[in-house]
Amino acid sequence: TIRALNPLRQATAALRSAAGAGARLALVPTMGALHDGHMTLVRRAREMAEIVAVSIFVNPRQFGPNEDLDAYPRQLERDSELLVAEGVDLLWAPDVGEMYPDGFASNISVEGVSAGLCGADRPGHFDGVATVVCKLFNQVAPDIALFGEKDWQQLAVIRRMARDLDLYAPLPTAIVGVPIVREADGLAMSSRNAYLSAEQRAAAAALPRAMRTAIERLMISDLAEDVLADLRTALLSGGFDSVDYAELRDAESIALLDQPNGNARLFVAARIGGTRLIDNMAVE
Ligand code: PAJ
Repeated sequence: TIRALNPLRQATAALRSAAGAGARLALVPTMGALHDGHMTLVRRAREMAEIVAVSIFVNPRQFGPNEDLDAYPRQLERDSELLVAEGVDLLWAPDVGEMYPDGFASNISVEGVSAGLCGADRPGHFDGVATVVCKLFNQVAPDIALFGEKDWQQLAVIRRMARDLDLYAPLPTAIVGVPIVREADGLAMSSRNAYLSAEQRAAAAALPRAMRTAIERLMISDLAEDVLADLRTALLSGGFDSVDYAELRDAESIALLDQPNGNARLFVAARIGGTRLIDNMAVE
């Protein structure tokens, strides 16, 4: 576990020179509280690269003032053991002062794909994500970086940023998206699922279930407006307290769609108790 930038630079240089010319370094950025979704990214990284680095940093800049920064689960010791068992070569776990030195004043803001969905509900969230991921790329200089499709819009923001800002190490960093890993009842794995009571956890399975029903109806050309209204109703009667959004959007541009266009995805964010859950699925 490395906690400061100079040792990190030395460690990546040593790993690269030990692995020899042509060895690839893959980075899996996380906020810790690792679950099988994260571990799937790590295993995929292991298949793609000779050197695997994981970062764990609960990034204050991507949490809003009324969000769960303080409550966010932190379990570095346990996470570190899980990563050692997977054969991860390097764990980068800087503290906040190392990531954001006194007087930090820079910000990366990706327009377009950041608008709407979580970008609309969580102002500044994707600026915080883009800023920290850009810093992680500059710190670790990965050849490959892996992200989950669970956070589809985040993946779109990072792809756009990497292309726009020529994030290089020494070739352009390849951004790899990994399909959503789900629990047996279909709920997408998330560190935030730990906030749910047993009763809420059981009700949460209504989210993927209602999304599948909606997609089946969209596939037989039911009017999207009706399908999305019924999806909201199903969530509210299934135990959710509110629905932040339930929208059909283009998978790449994240532009809002009235009806499926062949490349459409269904995006939902809904709250159960104080916990906000998100999910997305291809309309196919
Ligand atoms: P975090 O929520 O810890 O997620 C780390 C990575 O794991 C993200 O790429 C996320 O999409 C992926 N992931 C989480 N749950 C998943 C699941 N059920 N299936 C597949 N992938 C899953 O996302 C972040 O952290 C942060 O925003 C970060 C990118 C680290 C920047 O701070």
